[in-house]
Amino acid sequence: MTIRLTVNGETREFAAAPMTPLVDVLRDGLHLTGAKPVCREGFCGACMVLVDAVPTVACLTPVALVEGRDIETVEGLTSGESPTPVQAALEEHDAVQCGMCFPGMVVALTHLTTSGTCEPNRAAVKEALVGNVCRCTGYERIVDAALAVMEAGHE
Ligand code: FES
Ligand code: FES
Repeated sequence: MTIRLTVNGETREFAAAPMTPLVDVLRDGLHLTGAKPVCREGFCGACMVLVDAVPTVACLTPVALVEGRDIETVEGLTSGESPTPVQAALEEHDAVQCGMCFPGMVVALTHLTTSGTCEPNRAAVKEALVGNVCRCTGYERIVDAALAVMEAGHE
């Protein structure tokens, strides 16, 4: 079937089977490889994107389900060369992770720091990252970075 998606502000139309996972369409069809198919079980968060501004695991999302919805991938968070506040804070705090887990974390933290739904505190950051798994490093610097962005937003 022909599917029409709005991805990073652009309307894209292509042929795909309705149950094709969104992550495969993004990567293979649209060449947006930031979202990674790691576990394919909705567990790790490596494939996270925003659908209508809500963090969503693209590995368990059939493409037909998001037709006509607004999809933002990690590639769409920046315009030009400048990093977003989240990206800049992660770099400042030496909180850089590997290329598998990090894009999904950036998506989750962008949602947290732009939605304005909670006061800055470590518990809120940890809760926002509950669906983003890294088994090889700690989360403390990531939490520090996100907290710095949230606190700056409340100044
Ligand atoms: S690949 Fe989608 S949650 Fe792990
Ligand atoms: S999985 Fe990416 S740094 Fe651990």
